Amino acid sequence: MRHDHIISAKQLSRADIETVLDHAADIAADPSAYADRHADTLLGLCFFEPSTRTKMSFTAAMKRLGGDIVDMGSVESSSVKKGESLADTVRVVEGYADALVLRHPMEGSAKMASEFVDVPLVNAGDGAGQHPTQTLLDLYTIRENAGFDDLTIGIMGDLKYGRTVHSLAHALTNVDARQHFISPESLQLPRSVRYDLHQEGAEVREHTELEEVLPELDVLYVTRIQRERFPDESEYREVAGQYQIDSETLAAAKDDLTVMHPLPRVDEIAHDVDDTDYATYFEQAHNGVPVRMALLDLLLEANE
Ligand code: NCD
Repeated sequence: MRHDHIISAKQLSRADIETVLDHAADIAADPSAYADRHADTLLGLCFFEPSTRTKMSFTAAMKRLGGDIVDMGSVESSSVKKGESLADTVRVVEGYADALVLRHPMEGSAKMASEFVDVPLVNAGDGAGQHPTQTLLDLYTIRENAGFDDLTIGIMGDLKYGRTVHSLAHALTNVDARQHFISPESLQLPRSVRYDLHQEGAEVREHTELEEVLPELDVLYVTRIQRERFPDESEYREVAGQYQIDSETLAAAKDDLTVMHPLPRVDEIAHDVDDTDYATYFEQAHNGVPVRMALLDLLLEANE
């Protein structure tokens, strides 16, 4: 795999995806074999938006490869508060680290920032844009649980602002999945994403009701309504609380349905689903460590 930066799922070919996923599976089978692989390597974390899973799993991944992290900390406690530009921040941090991970509320920010640095930069979420490492761990989880052959997936919730959805939808065109998008009309896929999917020859259907497709699905990927991205709180309130599932909803599903969620959940998946065999979201979150170890290893090797 040869990429200077990881900005978008669109840049990942099927071969890239298989390379990362196969490497992640090897690492998961014997993590201790990689414990000294990147000793002396420092990963710079620049998170301008809240994060639990992405930041902690990148930290765990770098440490489990023998390296360490340098963390900008919260925006409140950084020089961003003094008016520093993103370009200046990343130019400074690249001098402290061998690779950078950036999360920022502005769509396009990761691409822009990557143009200012020579070390590899990984997009950990740019506004409503892309979240390619989430996609890699999503694909890993799908491959482990449902496989890529003859795959039918339903993606439900906030398809407009959900960057995990935009990334995943692109990547799924590489494995020829049938994609069903389920959302209220006001939160359908952005026109640009829909256009790209059609250009890529994706098999895409849009629905407002889960019942229409639930029995066909191998995977149901549920997402949170992205409250922080709504320009108007009243618009959020109109859709909040719709599109929830519980164990009763899933009575109509295939027995081997895999239910996923990038997390955090608010109320989209009732807690009674957690104890069913469908629930795969905590396993999915845990897969973030081997998958990010694999990606960091490949990226650091290729850019040495
Ligand atoms: C997602 C994100 O930040 O886009 N979280 C994550 O990285 N697992 C999903 C979300 O916030 O809803």
